[in-house]
Amino acid sequence: MKFFTCSVIMSVFLQVCSQNPLRYWTLLPNILVVEVNGSLGQQPLSCLGSPQEGTRKDDKSQGIIWRKNGVVEEQRGNSYLVQLEESLGGGNYTCHREDGSLVNHTVVLIQEDQTERRKILVKTDQEDYLTCLAQNYNGEFHCSWTWNRNRVGKVALIQVGRISNDSDAQCSVDVSTQRWTCSSGQSNFSCSVDEHGHRISCRDEQHCPYAEEIQQIYVTLYVRTEQFLVENYSKQFYLAEIVKPDMVRISEVNTSMIEWSYPSSWSSPYSYFPLTFQISQFRRGCKGCDNPCTESKPAKTLMVHFTDVCQFKVKHKAKAVCVRAKDALCNSQWSEWSHLRLRRNNKNKHRQNDKQG
Ligand SMILES: *[C@@H]1O[C@H](CO)[C@@H](O)[C@H](O)[C@H]1NC(C)=O
Ligand SMILES: *[C@@H]1O[C@H](CO)[C@@H](O)[C@H](O)[C@H]1NC(C)=O
Ligand SMILES: *[C@@H]1O[C@H](CO)[C@@H](O)[C@H](O)[C@H]1NC(C)=O
Ligand SMILES: *[C@@H]1O[C@H](CO)[C@@H](O)[C@H](O)[C@H]1NC(C)=O
Ligand SMILES: *[C@@H]1O[C@H](CO)[C@@H](O)[C@H](O)[C@H]1NC(C)=O
Ligand SMILES: *[C@@H]1O[C@H](CO)[C@@H](O)[C@H](O)[C@H]1NC(C)=O
Ligand SMILES: *[C@@H]1O[C@H](CO)[C@@H](O)[C@H](O)[C@H]1NC(C)=O
Repeated sequence: MKFFTCSVIMSVFLQVCSQNPLRYWTLLPNILVVEVNGSLGQQPLSCLGSPQEGTRKDDKSQGIIWRKNGVVEEQRGNSYLVQLEESLGGGNYTCHREDGSLVNHTVVLIQEDQTERRKILVKTDQEDYLTCLAQNYNGEFHCSWTWNRNRVGKVALIQVGRISNDSDAQCSVDVSTQRWTCSSGQSNFSCSVDEHGHRISCRDEQHCPYAEEIQQIYVTLYVRTEQFLVENYSKQFYLAEIVKPDMVRISEVNTSMIEWSYPSSWSSPYSYFPLTFQISQFRRGCKGCDNPCTESKPAKTLMVHFTDVCQFKVKHKAKAVCVRAKDALCNSQWSEWSHLRLRRNNKNKHRQNDKQG
């Protein structure tokens, strides 16, 4: 990713540049990020290559017409000065020949320099903007976020790699498939955005589940609004820190035995990626509970290890069981609970009623 600083721009623009924008750089081809602090400023654009070429007052560039978001502007010629004030100035700037045909375009995105006030995403309950989870150690993970209610936008760029500041990383998007890739000498990732724009799913193409994970994964998400404001949100982690197994599926073998298996999404072999299970047994069901596993008090809770089919003898009086799973070797997250109401409940109830009666 190239960072253009003021010093590389021709001297004509130096003075303007020393005030505002603070800096500007290319996010993707034809997409320019302009960092502003709210002061008045100007950002030069050019239709045909560099602004320098545009200063040649040839006929070709004199005939160029500019439009901002489709609306014809007064400025003519190869170069165009975007007026910056507060957060205004972003837009899709297109340049056209006199007959109206499109020559080129530059999308200008505005990045505000106040780092402390984020506007586009809101923190989730886990007090971070991005929540990243992996279902296993296969090298795939996903990150989700919540849009600010007033500023629904879309993903402008996904940067992901194994080095925080990988200068030779190349990130791009295949517009037709909406598939993002970031490749460098160090790593190779691909990501896709879900259809609702709330989550990305990524894959480390070079990940080896059996090797120790030496470097963290660094994710930076650039999001933009309809008003051409852009912000970035970052997160770094080891897969081992964000792994959260899927729920287990419990079934009843007979009146005293329950059985479950490893989540099908979990990494295999299970002997190499063992899970610990927590089992809670309940003496009474929890009718009307949203989550019976967390809302009622278990009679007994214990931890077990299995690396194959998991069978467990439930207590005679248990009416419901809950089971959840966690990586046995890392202190990462528990899965969500799975809940099973035992079928013998009804019989027991009848028996109890008989006794009472
Ligand atoms: C923006 O930056 C310029 C140049 O650094 C400075 O002169 C100006 O006072 C700043 N404006 C604000 C609102 O911070
Ligand atoms: C079109 O504009 C982009 C900047 O958005 C510039 O990098 C590119 O060189 C221009 N293309 C041509 C053919 O001048
Ligand atoms: C900007 O305008 C060009 C030319 O009409 C179009 O191809 C491009 O998709 C537009 N980009 C955005 C972000 O609106
Ligand atoms: C990412 O966002 C932070 C906070 O707004 C900002 O300071 C930083 O310059 C941004 N980084 C890039 C590469 O845009
Ligand atoms: C990023 O890399 C550049 C050049 O290699 C270096 O100057 C800079 O300090 C690095 N920044 C961080 C945050 O590591
Ligand atoms: C990155 O991985 C993809 C998918 O496996 C592959 O097509 C591509 O060639 C790889 N690129 C590099 C630079 O290793
Ligand atoms: C329940 O199934 C287990 C394992 O198949 C068996 O050992 C046990 O005897 C069975 N219990 C009853 C009450 O059928």
